[in-house]
Amino acid sequence: MRVLILGATGLLGQACVRQARAIGADVVGAARSGSELDMDVTRPGSLDNALDAAAPDLVVNCAGLTDLDLCERDPGLAYAVNARPAGILAALGDSRGFRFVHISTDHFFVAGGRTAHKEDSPVTLVNEYARTKYCGERLALLSPQALVIRTSMLGFRRRGAATLAEWAIAAIERDEPMTLFADAFTSSIDTDSLAAAIFDLDQRGAVGLVNVGSSAVYSKAEFVRRLADAMGKRLSHATTGSAAGLRPRRADSLGLDVTRAEAILERPLPGLNKVVESLLRSR
Ligand SMILES: NC(=O)c1ccc[n+]([C@@H]2O[C@H](COP(=O)([O-])OP(=O)(O)OC[C@H]3O[C@@H](n4cnc5c(N)ncnc54)[C@H](OP(=O)(O)O)[C@@H]3O)[C@@H](O)[C@H]2O)c1
Repeated sequence: MRVLILGATGLLGQACVRQARAIGADVVGAARSGSELDMDVTRPGSLDNALDAAAPDLVVNCAGLTDLDLCERDPGLAYAVNARPAGILAALGDSRGFRFVHISTDHFFVAGGRTAHKEDSPVTLVNEYARTKYCGERLALLSPQALVIRTSMLGFRRRGAATLAEWAIAAIERDEPMTLFADAFTSSIDTDSLAAAIFDLDQRGAVGLVNVGSSAVYSKAEFVRRLADAMGKRLSHATTGSAAGLRPRRADSLGLDVTRAEAILERPLPGLNKVVESLLRSR
């Protein structure tokens, strides 16, 4: 199997490259720089050229503009990265015959607290990131063959801005003062478990919209405290706070109901303890 991974240098893209190699696929990674294929998804013709070069059986689109501030400042760029390529890849997948997996987000739900949202739960779009990501998944789903994954993840980018896990581990190790959000809920899953689930769902022929995350819904504060426990560290200077004042406004009730994914995979997805264990193993 030949796999083209867009956004191969990112947090999830790196894990997808590792997983694709682990299952014996020939992998071509693409990003603007630092990968096998240098390409900018916003440039006309770039996707056609990448598909000609890679001749994939499967395209996994992990490319995204994930900087919320930049998405607010430049909604056109956010659309060009987060939405437009999904529509092009959906159409090209149907005409060229490759399978297409598009990575969406969980950033669609507010004020539900610890609710685990289903694939058909009503969405609320609170910022440009959410608007363009939602547009991307709608465009991808125009292909009946596309698999669109709603998710959130924890892992190591090892370049650029620190991820939540990278920040938390460094702050825990130094026992730094920190404010932990008790009112922001998530089902984030470690990137290794997520990448394994993505390729497994593809191999099992899954199509349509599928939530993939931890089977648990937990607050960001609960995650950091569990991580500190697993690292055998005390948080002497941690206080509990609220994410409500952050700007741009964040969605805060991001729990996902993952029962559809678990039924297709025929196995449970990891709870919080397993997510933390797997995260620390891949450190
Ligand atoms: N991180 C999370 O917690 C999270 C949660 C939910 C959903 N997601 C979604 O999951 C996907 C992956 O997220 P991530 O955290 O792995 O993102 P990331 O670490 O920011 O990586 C983004 C990737 O996209 C590439 N990229 C950005 N702009 C590009 C362009 N114009 N042309 C080509 N490549 C471009 C980046 O490489 P270059 O910049 O070098 O081009 C990088 O490889 C995204 O769709 C994101 O919306 C992420």
